[in-house]
Amino acid sequence: MLINAKQMMIDAKDGHYAIPHFNINNLEWTRYILEECQELDEPVILGVSEGAVKYMGGYVTVANIVRGLVQDLDITIPVVLHLDHGTYEGCFKAIDAGFTSVMYDGSRLPLDKNIANTKEVVNYAKDKNISVEAEIGAIGVAKENLDNEDIYTKVEDAVKMKETGIDFLAPALGSVHGIYKGEPKLDFTRMEEIKEATGLPLVLHGGSGIPDDMIRHAIDCGVAKLNVNTDLQIAWTKGVRELLNLDEEVYDPRKVIGAGKANLQQVVKDKVELLRNK
Ligand code: 13P
Repeated sequence: MLINAKQMMIDAKDGHYAIPHFNINNLEWTRYILEECQELDEPVILGVSEGAVKYMGGYVTVANIVRGLVQDLDITIPVVLHLDHGTYEGCFKAIDAGFTSVMYDGSRLPLDKNIANTKEVVNYAKDKNISVEAEIGAIGVAKENLDNEDIYTKVEDAVKMKETGIDFLAPALGSVHGIYKGEPKLDFTRMEEIKEATGLPLVLHGGSGIPDDMIRHAIDCGVAKLNVNTDLQIAWTKGVRELLNLDEEVYDPRKVIGAGKANLQQVVKDKVELLRNK
């Protein structure tokens, strides 16, 4: 069942758990994630970056891969197909192609422009019953200077962004995409303040490499979606590398790609269990 993320995010916030967002890169990953979440009987958000969309062939291809797998594999859990860090144009293309949720990322623009663009995406998405995530502040990559106050989301800016009618918000609170250098420093106080001031379900990007207790704490502070990509990549690559090191004769692509399946599904299982309301 392919649906938007509106209600599941509200339910997660109110129920003190979080929905897993796993990034997909190809048909095989999509299948592994769907099968594991079906086995665990948990809803899932499949996140696709614009880079991954390009890699897989385009928005329509991605939407058809996901719809086809949901149908052919008898997937009955709620599944959301979500554009991750979309550009303005990308959001419209994804919606037209059949994505059920989009993130518009105007975080590197001046706040007014970010808000104006987000509002236009929301207006277009609303008619089609598509959920919208927005970002303010700047969730960076590991090499960026996290001591720079300016990249953290300000509570008053989050309140302004809420007025656009978005369904959930990704504030920048110290997490980064990719591998952390040392321990992440998340600003839980600000997270709680943004939750109280906006009432919106919050999204924690850069979910790989954050210690479990910090993730649970973030859920207590309003996080209702955790985005995970790098942990899946590392686990899958490890499995493939092990096979290639072990077996010099192997050449069947199904065996090579499939060698990462168990590792990837283990990450999915661990994250899903961590995000549940215990
Ligand atoms: P990681 O690659 O750090 O898990 O971050 C994923 C993410 O936030 C996608 O939006």
